[in-house]
Amino acid sequence: MPGRAESQHYGQFVLALRWSRTFALVIPALLVSFAPIGFAQTVPATSAEKVLLTVDVSKTGAKIDRNLFGQFAEHLGHGIYDGIWVGPDSKIPNTRGIRNDVVAALKALKVPNIRWPGGCFADEYHWRNGIGPQRAMTLNPNWGGVIEPNTFGTHEFMDFLDQIGAEAYISVNVGSGTPREAAEWLEYMTTAQPTTLEKERAANGHPAPYKIGFLGIGNESWDCGGNMTPDYYLSQLKIYSRFVRNFNPEQQDNQQMLKIAVGPGGDEPRFTEWTEAVMSAYAHHTWSWDIDGLSMHSYTVVKWPPSYASVGFGETEYAQILKTTLDMDGLITKHSAIMDKHDPQKKVALVVDEWGAWYAPLPGSNPGFLVQQNSLRDAILAALNLNIFARHADRVRMANIAQMINVLQAMIMTDKEKMVLTPTYYVYKMYVPFQDATFVPVAFDAGTYQHSDSTLPRVDAIAAKDKTGKLWLEFTNVDPSREIEIEASLTGITAKAAAGETLTAAKVDSVNTFEVPNTVVPTPIAAQVHGGRLTLHLAAKSVTVISIEQ
Ligand code: AHR
Repeated sequence: MPGRAESQHYGQFVLALRWSRTFALVIPALLVSFAPIGFAQTVPATSAEKVLLTVDVSKTGAKIDRNLFGQFAEHLGHGIYDGIWVGPDSKIPNTRGIRNDVVAALKALKVPNIRWPGGCFADEYHWRNGIGPQRAMTLNPNWGGVIEPNTFGTHEFMDFLDQIGAEAYISVNVGSGTPREAAEWLEYMTTAQPTTLEKERAANGHPAPYKIGFLGIGNESWDCGGNMTPDYYLSQLKIYSRFVRNFNPEQQDNQQMLKIAVGPGGDEPRFTEWTEAVMSAYAHHTWSWDIDGLSMHSYTVVKWPPSYASVGFGETEYAQILKTTLDMDGLITKHSAIMDKHDPQKKVALVVDEWGAWYAPLPGSNPGFLVQQNSLRDAILAALNLNIFARHADRVRMANIAQMINVLQAMIMTDKEKMVLTPTYYVYKMYVPFQDATFVPVAFDAGTYQHSDSTLPRVDAIAAKDKTGKLWLEFTNVDPSREIEIEASLTGITAKAAAGETLTAAKVDSVNTFEVPNTVVPTPIAAQVHGGRLTLHLAAKSVTVISIEQ
């Protein structure tokens, strides 16, 4: 968050098998060229121009790892308390204190992993405060200075994950904690041996060891995580990587816990130096330490502090935000190039574990709670970023949108017993078939959408083949006024029929509210297949997902 005011043993030799370390040849995916600038302005608002695409299903790329659809839940505002945790005595229907409505909504997204407990919060989190019958009342100085009741701790988080079927991505405290504290937390969670910590876990209700899929070693250690230099962070990283062990017997050979180091936070030269330093150290690492991922944080904000309104904006702000969000592609390309130099086999994943739109706080809300609305613009923004990740799927194998509930670009908003699903939620739901599907290159001329000073590609598209061999296509029409006729030539399959859903609404800032929750929801869309050609009509400002029957 640049510019915020205040803001193992020999198991190391065993290759982590969870993130595949060899990749099929990735065919250059986006053969986009731009129509002349100004072209967009000469076309009547109602006309539907044709965009031709070529999809060759015989030419596949990398796997679109399901972990790209990960979530982030920090102790921040109402992200945890009220959003997930209401307590077992609440009148809001819950299972052991966890909201049933939220669990049901998240299950439909097939959430692969959740990063917790922060963010900046993680570097001040002391896990012992959140276990056992007596919970310490502490403070949350990063986020509004409010009381942290610690009623949602390790066991509650793991119960929540169990209820929705996601894996744990735990961020350990490097900033104000110690390697011993983090090592003991991992022992507490994962050992099956009768140690004192294992007995304590069992006494607290969970005799079986927990599985921890991912370990984050610090958070933004260059700023809120302790303002460390790359060298200082590296000295910490090596110690935490060596001593913070996962003892779960089921995670020793297969399903090993993947360790994620702090990486860059933007485009500034200091972040280039950071990536260079961590990856160069990785290239020379000894048996005693290792990493599997390098984190990257990049918010769509235009400029700090966040000042764009999340609702009640016009086309100028719509175009500016979407143009800015496309910077994600350049940032990934830049840091991937440094990683390629030190890790040509792409063993280390680039993990975009904080991304999304960050707007001005909603008027009347606590500014430390990062409450914002979520509009059709955010749905389009989410699709554009997910497509960028898919095109970089050989290196980008995990991502976590910030944040899951009630904070920043949320999937879900709650208010006491009420819950509403946001436009971004529906994009994640529509993209479920892309989880672990194989990337298929799509060639097309995107044309341009221009408004005021912002010029950006008018259409975006990705394709992928799922495990059953079914082809899925996604089309984003960025233009808020002009519809598009899609004609896609499909080779490498015998296409028989097509079906799909589209997400659009009357205005770029249309939102779902507790009172009117179905303003931005997906609806079925007609698509035809004849002689290997898919045709369909894209509404202006829309996100569409199509499946092809063979
Ligand atoms: O997501 C909100 C904050 O943004 C996180 O706590 C921090 O890591 C980032 O700066």
